[in-house]
Amino acid sequence: MRIAMIGTGYVGLVSGVCFSDFGHDVICVDRSEEKIAKLERGEVPIYEPGLDAILARNVEAGRLQFTTDIATALEGAEAVFIAVGTPSRRGDGHADLSYVMGAAEDIARSLKDYAVVVTKSTVPVGTNRKVGEVIRATNPEANFDVASNPEFMREGAAIEDFMKPDRVVIGVESERAREIMGDIYRPLYLRDFPIVYTGLETAEMIKYASNAFLATKITFINEIAALCERVGANVKDVAKGMGLDGRIGNKFLHAGPGYGGSCFPKDTSALTRIGQEHGCPMRITETVITVNEAVKRRMIDKVLDLCGGSVNGATVAVLGVTFKPETDDMRESPSLTIVPALIGGGARVRVVDPQGRREGERLLPGVSWESDPYEAARDADVLLTLTAWNEFRALDLRRLSEAMATPRMADLRNIYEREDVLEAGFIAYEGVGR
Ligand SMILES: NC(=O)c1ccc[n+]([C@@H]2O[C@H](COP(=O)([O-])OP(=O)(O)OC[C@H]3O[C@@H](n4cnc5c(N)ncnc54)[C@H](O)[C@@H]3O)[C@@H](O)[C@H]2O)c1
Repeated sequence: MRIAMIGTGYVGLVSGVCFSDFGHDVICVDRSEEKIAKLERGEVPIYEPGLDAILARNVEAGRLQFTTDIATALEGAEAVFIAVGTPSRRGDGHADLSYVMGAAEDIARSLKDYAVVVTKSTVPVGTNRKVGEVIRATNPEANFDVASNPEFMREGAAIEDFMKPDRVVIGVESERAREIMGDIYRPLYLRDFPIVYTGLETAEMIKYASNAFLATKITFINEIAALCERVGANVKDVAKGMGLDGRIGNKFLHAGPGYGGSCFPKDTSALTRIGQEHGCPMRITETVITVNEAVKRRMIDKVLDLCGGSVNGATVAVLGVTFKPETDDMRESPSLTIVPALIGGGARVRVVDPQGRREGERLLPGVSWESDPYEAARDADVLLTLTAWNEFRALDLRRLSEAMATPRMADLRNIYEREDVLEAGFIAYEGVGR
């Protein structure tokens, strides 16, 4: 198969690289000349564990190329994937489809032979049909079918998720498109990974419903965590006791500072807009969004309480600012709410993050960057764990407490146990829901 992948962000690049590893010929296109220049030099513009090696192997084998020219990419392609961003539109929270529709127009202008135009971006119900209309309007001669193939990979584990997915969802309406999509995913089909064929609208809906459900699960445990604090229960044990029930499952039951990232905030927001437009309000998801905002504010109060009501003049050492470990993605990270609030309250903030600095320097003005947690903790008044990177999981607590001016810990990821922290010389510990 020859595949063109439009957009070399977190999803497009991983998908393109993994498809080439399946043995397909892949050409990745991006508007950003800087990204393509990097990729052509063999550099990976994002941090995603393991991606560099697979990329290099497939470039070497001649199966993977990069270009900024869509016409070159489309030559002989049997499938063209759209994997561009669908951020929240300013003002109304709807998915901004300008990149998707821009890509559709670009495709229409360059398409010579038959191809399946596959939308991998997360898009509102009805968008695949609109992509088809835009292509037809731009180029009435174009010979194509559309397909919906939403992506479920998690940043930080994207390759594993792509190569060993829980399922692949394919929305198609023509037999020809179904066959091509089947050929593309044949390596997964042969290894018995479930492939779910549906119509276009259903495929689009599966993606939003899945993300909204996961955001709900996280928010549910975060709300239970708040109640645990009031009634003297321990949310970690509550989550364990709940998660052992096969109907509930133990994933996405870790209480923390609220969900963030490049998907849940914008997808929950878009789902509520889709519901409103169709006269069918998504009340649960609307509430989830409101509660998640309150969770982030509750975290700020936790730090203030730990410091006797104010952080004015205090030095706060923040461990982790990316929205989760193993990624450099800062989009909608809870740190973007919590850190500015602390700075606004008069705190000096030092940050350590294994991959967050490149984006973080722009997004978190006024913080100072350290490369080591012990340096960050020197003479600090509070240590704040915000992202559960592995390197923050087994710190020498005694060394930290001795380095700090007033050793207090706000452990917003419940990484440590209160007894261990206090035993190591900290004077106060605050977790979430314990
Ligand atoms: N990031 C995730 O973990 C994830 C997971 C599942 C689904 N998704 C969905 O996948 C889509 C892409 O997300 P992302 O995080 O990869 O986005 P991203 O912002 O990292 O990447 C998008 C890329 O598309 C490029 N682009 C935009 N318009 C273009 C055009 N017309 N031609 C060529 N290139 C163009 C941009 O330059 C950018 O490099 C979104 O809809 C998102 O919701 C993301």
